[in-house]
Amino acid sequence: MQTVNSIKELRAIIHAQRLAGKRIGFVPTMGNLHEGHITLVREGQKHADFMVSSVFVNPTQFVAGEDFDKYPRTLKEDQEKLAAVGCNLLFAPPVDEMYPGDQASWASVHVTKITERHCGAARPGHFDGVATVVTKLFNIVKPDVALFGKKDFQQLAVIRRMSTALCFGIDIIGIDTVREANGLAMSSRNGYLTADEKNRGAEMYRSLCAARDAIKGGNTNFAQLSSEANDKLEAAGFIPEYFSVCRADTLEPAQPGDRNLVILAAARMGKARLIDNIDFTL
Ligand code: PAF
Repeated sequence: MQTVNSIKELRAIIHAQRLAGKRIGFVPTMGNLHEGHITLVREGQKHADFMVSSVFVNPTQFVAGEDFDKYPRTLKEDQEKLAAVGCNLLFAPPVDEMYPGDQASWASVHVTKITERHCGAARPGHFDGVATVVTKLFNIVKPDVALFGKKDFQQLAVIRRMSTALCFGIDIIGIDTVREANGLAMSSRNGYLTADEKNRGAEMYRSLCAARDAIKGGNTNFAQLSSEANDKLEAAGFIPEYFSVCRADTLEPAQPGDRNLVILAAARMGKARLIDNIDFTL
């Protein structure tokens, strides 16, 4: 697998592949890859002939005071994992290739409404950074299909809306969350957790499953279910941020009678902020 750092080089290689009739698949990442990312590449291979991945820790999606400086950078291991799964090309640009000079301040992509709640409220500006860098990466790679994990459910919804609203013409595929044996969603930030915190962290998925089962059983008191879940999270050592039953398409609060639902959760455990979700149909 070849790794390139420049936009020009990447474009030349992809142009040649496209001329050869290849369908281009793309998995953007911030590196520190785990089985969740590798699954995205594997799934991508079912939809594309030539798989491209990127590793870029995007500064514009980190809010002041967050972990940009200490975010794990593990390029060598990431290259090995991508090569082993048969990824064809890795784009690993330095920050000044993606944002030369003061270009980060020239333009920004803002997706309305769906970015306002949940992680958008807790991390103001985060989704502008995500939408902007994903737009740039899409313009650079010009993929036919791009794959994202459902663990970042709101991010996936933002990218889907942006791609539709701005006519990107790219198939956006969401892939189910890959979990540890105890149910904890795999995340690049799980490395911030101690072994004990990883055990206790499994309570987030247990609480999501319990709330889903209650709703499937006919309980429509979403506020009470959220409050009970937050109590359980607190008892496990979390500092809860939100636990919300939402409409799966708009991420607005669910109403009794809604059928396509997602429960979104975020909470702090030790040095990590963990998010997870469960989507289902009644
Ligand atoms: O999910 C991520 O790793 C990032 O938010 C993404 C989509 C690669 C944009 O930097």
